[in-house]
Amino acid sequence: MPGASCRSGAGWVTPLYRCDMDVEKAIRTRRTHKAFAAARLDPAVLEGLLELARWAPNHRLTNPWRFRVLGPLTRDRLMALAEAEELGSAVKLQRAPTLIAVSAHLAGDPAQDREDLLATAVAAYLVLLGAHARGLAGYWRTVALLDGIEAREILGLAPQETPVGVLYLGHPVQEQRVPERAPLAQVVIHLD
Ligand SMILES: Cc1cc2nc3c(=O)[nH]c(=O)nc-3n(C[C@H](O)[C@H](O)[C@H](O)COP(=O)(O)O)c2cc1C
Repeated sequence: MPGASCRSGAGWVTPLYRCDMDVEKAIRTRRTHKAFAAARLDPAVLEGLLELARWAPNHRLTNPWRFRVLGPLTRDRLMALAEAEELGSAVKLQRAPTLIAVSAHLAGDPAQDREDLLATAVAAYLVLLGAHARGLAGYWRTVALLDGIEAREILGLAPQETPVGVLYLGHPVQEQRVPERAPLAQVVIHLD
């Protein structure tokens, strides 16, 4: 049986979505996918991923993340808006069967807002990591459109909410190449 951390709200995930992958392996092998099979995600699996994201660290337990799972009507409205802004761009919102708009609920205090934005990014990553551990594919996309007033209205974003990105989820259709990472020497500085 998969580990207890893989429980979804509705019960144990099905064997198809076993998520007993070693954490380090999951981190190393998760990739950005931009092509997905048409099959929708099992709603219990999706709920399990969003439940997992709630365990991201967050200072003062502000729980700043908000996840909006886009239904067909909302997706259509966003696609129409995208197409009106840039011809041919709507198709990018069709790539995955499940789209989740992630936003951070910010209180207006600069120091806390910074922490809450970062915590929301961690929560978004947990969705992607958990999806990968369940054999699913994911993609974090910055959708500039979401900063505009029309898209905010379509998503029903509160004035305190800042869009962080859109998570694409679905079943993988192809292997992804492994993008290089900068060597440690380039990013680690040991201080005296
Ligand atoms: C905050 C954030 C925003 C991103 N936005 C985009 C995007 O708009 N378009 C895109 O192609 N990839 C986007 N990505 C995915 C990165 O391009 C991807 O993570 C990177 O190429 C490394 O590949 P990997 O995820 O397979 O390790 C984003 C990733 C992050 C963390």
